[in-house]
Amino acid sequence: MRKTVLSGIQPSGKLHLGNYFGAMRQHIEMQAEHDAFYFMANYHTLTSLQNGPELRQNTIDVVLDYLALGLDPTKCTFFAQSDVPQVTELAWILGTLCPVSLMEKGVAYKDKVANGLAANIGLFTYPILQAADILIYNSDIVPVGADQKQNIEFSRDLAQKLNFTYEKELLKIPEPHIVESVAIVPGVDGRKMSKSYGNTILIFDEGKALKEKVMKIVTDATPLEDPKNPDTCNVFALIKLFASTEKKEEIAAKYRAGGYGYGHAKKELLGMITEYFAEAREKRHQLEQNPDFVMDVLKEGGEKARKRAEEVMQPIREALGLIRTHYAG
Ligand code: ADP
Ligand code: TRP
Repeated sequence: MRKTVLSGIQPSGKLHLGNYFGAMRQHIEMQAEHDAFYFMANYHTLTSLQNGPELRQNTIDVVLDYLALGLDPTKCTFFAQSDVPQVTELAWILGTLCPVSLMEKGVAYKDKVANGLAANIGLFTYPILQAADILIYNSDIVPVGADQKQNIEFSRDLAQKLNFTYEKELLKIPEPHIVESVAIVPGVDGRKMSKSYGNTILIFDEGKALKEKVMKIVTDATPLEDPKNPDTCNVFALIKLFASTEKKEEIAAKYRAGGYGYGHAKKELLGMITEYFAEAREKRHQLEQNPDFVMDVLKEGGEKARKRAEEVMQPIREALGLIRTHYAG
């Protein structure tokens, strides 16, 4: 059965290989089979980025990245969160039902503050806005990385709370869909690849910038002629994402045989990244020349998303006793 799939990505910086293999690729794969809603979570990004021109540009960059990588706006609903005012309306309502103690259990908030983000209220209540994102489109499945599981559970709790309080099935209870098969993609320093660690290889890095990053990937000091273990090597962990099964086995065998250095592996990886994204890179250059197209895509997606959101919101307003004298669809 066709289900409603929903996911969001924060336009908080340029997208990297971890974002692609951990999230975007699955989103693109799911667009054909399901009724998919994908959006740029720009309200969420305000919790960590307070620079208007930068947020605007990042949002456009995320749209370009997705489109270049194969997201088809005629197959799914692709939009900016800020084009759906109903989402902040629902977030307020859910906030009135959410015990402070529930938010205090949030691990992402504590992590972000520990990593130096300012402890603003938006950051604290971030999961409530995320719950509104999920619930406002009657989503069935929410494909996310493992780090988002708690936020999906919060959205289930809050939907149940609203339905129980107003004694009506106003919101559908969504399921998470954690992509367990994707290992954490390592960054050039061997830690999890993340914008906040400055260790990323961007999807659309090319030329000298790409080469420099690949050459910087941390490896151990095993001499060139000695056998090496591919399974503990950061370069091989990235090669695995790009190579066919045969190619992977061939390179692993070279590691184990010795006489194959990390420099060789890096060169191989550089070639693979360049080739894997060649078509997308070309498409992105073309799309960059056509800013009106990007805005048209967002406009159309926004209209479709608002329509669905309004259908879910109106019965809620009625049940809650909120008088509304104008239509906001
Ligand atoms: P970042 O850590 O760079 O800020 P986000 O937290 O914005 O990335 O992640 C956006 C999406 O990409 C999430 O679904 C997340 O699970 C996925 N993702 C991010 N980094 C990685 C990684 N290194 N490996 C696998 N998936 C990742
Ligand atoms: N919190 C998610 C992240 O950082 C982004 C996000 C916002 C999201 N709203 C969402 C993901 C709704 C899934 C569903 O990756």
